[in-house]
Amino acid sequence: MNKANVLIVDDSRSVRFAVKALLSSSGIHTVTASDGLQGQEALRREQFDLVITDVDMPNLSGLEFCQWIKSNPETAHIPVIVLSSLDTDVDIENGFRVGADAYVPKRLANKELIPRIESVMNKCTFVKDKTILVVEDSKTIQMVVKQGLKDAGFKVALADDGQHALEIIDDVAPDILLTDLNMPRVDGHELCRRLFNMDKYKLMPIVVMSSLGDKPMMRGLIRDGVAAFIVKPFNVDMLVVTMEKLLSDHFQHMLEERERLVLEQKLTVGTITSLVNALEARDKYTSGHSESVTRLSIAIGRELGFSDTEMNRLQIAASLHDLGKIGVRDNVLLKPGKLTEDEFEHMQTHTVVVQDILKSMHGMEDVLVAASSHHERWDGTGYPNGLKGEDIPLVGRIIAVADVFDALTSDRPYRDGMPVEKALQIISEGVGSHFCPTVAAAFFRYMKTLKKGNLT
Ligand SMILES: [Fe+2]
Repeated sequence: MNKANVLIVDDSRSVRFAVKALLSSSGIHTVTASDGLQGQEALRREQFDLVITDVDMPNLSGLEFCQWIKSNPETAHIPVIVLSSLDTDVDIENGFRVGADAYVPKRLANKELIPRIESVMNKCTFVKDKTILVVEDSKTIQMVVKQGLKDAGFKVALADDGQHALEIIDDVAPDILLTDLNMPRVDGHELCRRLFNMDKYKLMPIVVMSSLGDKPMMRGLIRDGVAAFIVKPFNVDMLVVTMEKLLSDHFQHMLEERERLVLEQKLTVGTITSLVNALEARDKYTSGHSESVTRLSIAIGRELGFSDTEMNRLQIAASLHDLGKIGVRDNVLLKPGKLTEDEFEHMQTHTVVVQDILKSMHGMEDVLVAASSHHERWDGTGYPNGLKGEDIPLVGRIIAVADVFDALTSDRPYRDGMPVEKALQIISEGVGSHFCPTVAAAFFRYMKTLKKGNLT
């Protein structure tokens, strides 16, 4: 962002000065103009990465100026931030209606302008450097389109027809596919149909180049999910604007999707926590067990170099590993002594019941499978499925070690918790039979650091 060249347009000298100073302190190069007309001149004269404009200005207002930028193929790709003292909903809506990328009220400029510039510029960087696979049997059109897209900063790959595109698409990994309709072997229509049926590509935007006579087919393709049409003969600038708009919408969609997932996960974790609390309220001796097992599992995951996403899944799986005990009868769950064979069999169902309880939760399948496997044993003698070795999900193998360690060292109605050293001894004896050697090694490494920490 530091190399960015930003045009600031405002009729107030003091505002121009303040915004320039703010941007300069972040290392951003700026040029100023005092109204929309001067802004237009500056844009004709030099290249800018971003325009920040006021709304209320003489000669050409900020909104007219923004509209001009967005409707001119040479400048349409430049993001515009409207910076104004008018900040009612209507003012903001007017800004977006003329194509502004962001709206910052002047009173919040000190705090919000730089983060907003960063987000707008990131979005643009996201749009640039993307790969477009152009599927076209005419070498002349291939050449013109390729040049136009490359000049606009896109990477371009070419395919001579649909069949060729299908052969190279995995290697090219395009962000957008731009295809002709009439081509030998696999035509554009068939290519779209096949891509929509492939999980990997069904969300990739597809743009179809067609002639006006293809109108009925266009309607069908839009219904099937084609993102846009470019009618031949077309202007390459319009093609570039269409691509940028699609990628920008795609980016926005991805951001929204990410926010939605974070919110959904918060709700899921909240629900699970309530259920675990309900379970632990029934049995005071195991209260806090899920939390301890989760804490220890996370420590093992860290030793194993888990990524943030893997850690997240591990944390959820560990916190709900015993949730299925909600379905275990009181006389078994709370029995202060050894269980009979029948009772033990009933107790074992908790590994399966958790899946039944949470199966309606979207996107939790991997977590549930992992949590269900925390009583499997490395040698295949565990339950519920007698899985062996690496067939047991790694997360399940981690929870197994954490679970046993916490159970051994915690007090029970019929016995006191054993000393840590004794529990470590028992776990080390179970390596290769009960426990996964890699996970156990990570667990011992962690326990060693803990011991060192205690001594200092
Ligand atoms: Fe369990």
